Amino acid sequence: MKSLDKIIIKNKKIIFRADLNVPVLNGKITDYSRINSIIPTIEILKKNENKIFIIAHFGRPKGKKNNKYSIKFLREDLKKIFKIPNVHFLESFEKKIIQNKISEMKDGEICLFENIRFNPGEETNDLDFSKSLSSNFDIYINDAFSASHRNHASITGITKYLPSYAGLSFSNEIKNLDNFLENSTKPNLAIIGGSKVSTKIKVLKYLVEIFDSIVIGGAMANTFLLSNNYNVGSSLIENDFINLSKEIQKKAKEKKCKILLPIDVVCSKDLQDKTNIKTYNINDVPKDQMILDIGEQSTELISNEILKSQSVLWNGPLGAFEYSPFDKSTISVANIIKDSSNKTQINSLAGGGDTLAAIKKANANNAFNYLSTAGGAFLEWLEGNKSPGYLALKENNF
Ligand code: 3PG
Repeated sequence: MKSLDKIIIKNKKIIFRADLNVPVLNGKITDYSRINSIIPTIEILKKNENKIFIIAHFGRPKGKKNNKYSIKFLREDLKKIFKIPNVHFLESFEKKIIQNKISEMKDGEICLFENIRFNPGEETNDLDFSKSLSSNFDIYINDAFSASHRNHASITGITKYLPSYAGLSFSNEIKNLDNFLENSTKPNLAIIGGSKVSTKIKVLKYLVEIFDSIVIGGAMANTFLLSNNYNVGSSLIENDFINLSKEIQKKAKEKKCKILLPIDVVCSKDLQDKTNIKTYNINDVPKDQMILDIGEQSTELISNEILKSQSVLWNGPLGAFEYSPFDKSTISVANIIKDSSNKTQINSLAGGGDTLAAIKKANANNAFNYLSTAGGAFLEWLEGNKSPGYLALKENNF
């Protein structure tokens, strides 16, 4: 893979893939890690007087323009973060319009494109779209490891038409993830949370083979609890994955991997009802209640497990993290890892937007050996799948 740390790129027209899919709550960015991760590469490109065009996605607008997913609002943040007076903006990906913008821009200036996923050709990896996108530029740089598990036009297709390089953050992510896997000393623990079992079930199959213990939390745990015949009330579940949950638990038993599910849970009627929040033992969840966080006894169980471990991997919140007070257990776990890293040497790695936001809230950044900006891409890499974005860079022969 050609990477930016081995070459100087000067006075070129660059198309730069970033992952600016940042968590936003009430119009405010709650975690800047993904934006911050591209600063080193952007700084170098700016210093070397390149014209930089940033491509990014935000949410899943499914190939259609939708103002809800516009990334125009990011201009102000980018100006501040890159310490520059202006960030140009282009809604259109039309060749002529891009050409005009290039002529208007001075060397070292930056232009942000509107959400690339407004174009139907992005997610279908339409090669005509990739070709047309590339045609105004000299070089493509991918600094979006966290989006590189997607086989999309701005991640893989475009590398067919331009000399392509990994940005500094991209290379750094790979180095650190591989480093964790190689040095994951036992006993090791994986904490996997989040809402969707469907996106994480594959990795769980793999993780039971390499971890001594796995904590399953977040809404994902509900499907596992249901598969063990617990009543989970009106909680979020994924019926299609009940059998697979059973299979994973069976495999874990064979591989002597301990699976820890919540033993008590914090419930309410729904996310909005914050006046009737109650903790229940997992045997007693009423029919009309929704599980929105794990309880203190479950957190205690996780704490004991962390204290016994030499390596800890964490991806995904343990409750409905965006909605306080259902962020409590997730922040507690960040604090527990922080405290135990003060006492013993643990090799710890965390990834995913909400996980990083929790770690930041607990002021626990320094407790981790590495914080990955990637969520899904991080899990797929751990599974041993080289991402399409990585392979495309590796195969690029220009
Ligand atoms: C992420 O948030 O994990 C990346 O930005 C990829 O987003 P996606 O899951 O919508 O492709």
